[in-house]
Amino acid sequence: MTERWAPDSWRAKPAKQMPTYTDPQAVESVAQTLSHYPPLVFAGEARALKQKLARVAAGEGFLLQGGDCAESFAEFDPDKIRDTFRALLQMAVVLTFGSGTPVVKVGRMAGQFAKPRSADTETIDGIELPSYRGDIINGFDFTEEARRPDPQRMIQAYNQAAASLNLLRAFAQGGYADLHQVHRWNLGFCARSPQGERYQGMADRIDEAVQFMNACGITAETSPSIRETDFFTAHEALLLQYEEAMTRVDSTTGDWYDVSGHFLWIGDRTRQPDGAHVEFLRGVNNPIGIKCGPSLESDELMRLIDILNPKDEPGRLVLIPRYGADKIERHLPAMIRRVKGEGRTVVWACDPMHGNTVKSSTGYKTRPVDRILDEVSRFFDIHQAEGTHPGGVHFELTGQDVTECTGGAQAITDSALSLRYHTACDPRLNASQALELAFLIAERLKEERADRDRARRSAAAE
Ligand code: PEP
Ligand code: CO
Repeated sequence: MTERWAPDSWRAKPAKQMPTYTDPQAVESVAQTLSHYPPLVFAGEARALKQKLARVAAGEGFLLQGGDCAESFAEFDPDKIRDTFRALLQMAVVLTFGSGTPVVKVGRMAGQFAKPRSADTETIDGIELPSYRGDIINGFDFTEEARRPDPQRMIQAYNQAAASLNLLRAFAQGGYADLHQVHRWNLGFCARSPQGERYQGMADRIDEAVQFMNACGITAETSPSIRETDFFTAHEALLLQYEEAMTRVDSTTGDWYDVSGHFLWIGDRTRQPDGAHVEFLRGVNNPIGIKCGPSLESDELMRLIDILNPKDEPGRLVLIPRYGADKIERHLPAMIRRVKGEGRTVVWACDPMHGNTVKSSTGYKTRPVDRILDEVSRFFDIHQAEGTHPGGVHFELTGQDVTECTGGAQAITDSALSLRYHTACDPRLNASQALELAFLIAERLKEERADRDRARRSAAAE
């Protein structure tokens, strides 16, 4: 028997990774205020994304999800939003043009403010303070005042998410994403990198194709998809008081939606089947993701799938394996076989970031681009061997010229990490490293498509 669900039914379950607020009354008052604020996204948009993901689950598309590890109040800046959006657009166009596969674009943006941490507290020089849990909860500075969880931060996060989303919608629909602009996306530091040059060559070919289509009468006026694009937002649904306050009944369908973002995921540390986060997400109708780390057993994964997608609705669930290049082979094949064997419909999207974090010789938390590339490549190999579709990728990236991940075509060394290491949380790919990955993925997707077409042709010939 399924228990009754309500936006607050998670409160009866054990909740990991949540802050301890000193004034619960103040939290409730903020939640009340938020519950009257306008939705950030519409239920219809979340349904449109679900339909696109259903196509991906059927093998007809690819999910590109990426953005900051954590957005921050201090880094709130229109140029940074534009640059991350642009990096994702460039990747998407490389993937679409290179592989002939439709790409579903989802930003870790406009709401990615809460972070799970490996320890509740941090000790520096004998002083112990609560860990930084993302700007929606507390501040990064190592002071007692900054680290105290402050519910008012939820209002600031909402406002920043609203303004960011407003700009992203304008970029996606107001002409910035026009296919006539593919050259212009290649501005800045990335243009001077080898990836940037490769991109320029591809952009020339896209120009030719767009001119050819124009000559045939397919123009931005007749075909809006030339001029605009769909762009969706996503974040980890971690701070449940905030998510609950943003959960509303959709007037069209009568169903519940979390209107803080189109897509929400459950982190690897909060995916307990009996826990609060799973309880909350089972009742909202948005498409959702589950991070799958090495400690997740296949029985438990099946329990999660039963709870979160009991009717096997296509497009509802994205499984996001994040094992690490050295562990993916040990874990992923068995998971894929189990899910496939039980006839469940999911999108598999590789997160090659969170299992590949290492400490550099210079003391920085970093991720070698080679290992990231390696995990993605193995992800494709495994799906090829299992006869399943490698449905997407999930990256931490920024459009800025940061030096946070080592290697790549720019050959960032351990000692160069200190030059522009700006992240408040995990190390991100810069735009040039992200583009490098996009070219690799496009090649692999093209191969997959060719294999599938061959298999189809030979099935038809039999
Ligand atoms: C993240 O995506 O930033 C994250 C914390 O991932 P995971 O839950 O997979 O560790
Ligand atoms: Co992260």
